[in-house]
This record gives sequence, C-alpha cells and structure tokens, in this order.
Amino acid sequence: MEFLDKLSAVMEKLGGNGVFLTAGSKPNTMTASWGFVGVMWNKPIIVVPVRASRFTHGLIEEGGAFSVSAPLNESLNGLLAYFGSVSGRDVDKYAQKNITPVKCNKIDTYIIPGSCCHFECKVIYKNYIVKERLDERIIRTMYGDNSFHTMFYGEIVDAYYT
Ligand SMILES: Cc1cc2nc3c(=O)[nH]c(=O)nc-3n(C[C@H](O)[C@H](O)[C@H](O)COP(=O)(O)O)c2cc1C
Repeated sequence: MEFLDKLSAVMEKLGGNGVFLTAGSKPNTMTASWGFVGVMWNKPIIVVPVRASRFTHGLIEEGGAFSVSAPLNESLNGLLAYFGSVSGRDVDKYAQKNITPVKCNKIDTYIIPGSCCHFECKVIYKNYIVKERLDERIIRTMYGDNSFHTMFYGEIVDAYYT
C-alpha cells in the first residue's frame, strides 16, 4: 500500500511531542500525541482520540475530515507545545504564531506548513471510550475531568511531504 512507508513518520511522534491535528473549513489545529495507524477494511487508517471538550472535536464532527501533520524534525516542537496548550475557542492560534495554514488537496481543511509528513483523512467510523469498560486505574488517572475521548477513524486519502 503506497501510504505505509510514510506511516512511520506519525508513529515516531505519537507518544512523544505529538502531531498537528487540523480540522474545519475555517480551520483550527491542536496537538495530539495519542493515536494508532494501521489497516482496516483494506484501507490505511489513522485513529485519533480527541476529547469531547476540545474545540477541534466539534470541527471534526462537523466536517467529517481531519489532517495530521507529523514534523520530520524537532524544529516545530515549540509550536506543538503551543497548539496543545491553548484553545481555538479562545484565540486564533495561527494569528498568534504568524502561521498561514495551507489548503488540503482532497479534504476541506488545511495542513500546517513546515517540514512535515501530511495525511489527509476522511472519517469513516467513530466510537467512544465507554467508562464502564475501561480499567479503573486509567479512569482515575486520565479522566478526572470526565471528558472521554472520541476515537475518529480516518481513512488516509492523501499523504505527502512538505
Ligand atoms: C503533547 C500533547 C499531546 C496531546 N495529545 C492529545 C490527544 O491525543 N488528544 C486530545 O484530545 N488532546 C491532546 N492534547 C491536548 C490538546 O492539544 C489541547 O487541549 C488543545 O489546547 C486543544 O485545542 P483546541 O481546543 O483548540 O482543539 C495534547 C496536548 C499536548 C501538549
């Protein structure tokens, strides 16, 4: 499958400094460091867990699509920290950081410019973390705010480097 060679770029960032997750025709970007990549229904898939409290959550629900931009080096680490610390509900993160997002090829949202591997994804499935099925220690340590994740399964419809 032609995308599989690029998936390691995302894997390297998950569990670490994270990736840029962008959604919306009027876009917003947040940082995500959890997720999966793989194959399902014979399609290459990225699964992103997004808490219902994130502004980006509503944009993914609305547009049915998201982009993932995985930095190829450490130069965007400061930006990842910023995009993961403030909400698009309160500020225009792009204006604050003087960034102009770039239009995607195949979905109606944007990518973050810079040295990245980009994935354009269409949501083809979603499910929810069900509290009653989750290990009690994880509920206690991860969900004090009671904002559980939605797991968005995005079919990768385009992948490229900038
Ligand atoms: C390194 C890092 C990783 C993060 N990973 C996730 C994640 O996987 N899922 C999630 O819902 N929030 C995650 N966050 C938190 C969001 O990025 C953060 O709440 C952000 O401000 C949400 O922005 P928004 O309200 O504009 O969508 C992470 C934050 C950081 C700094």
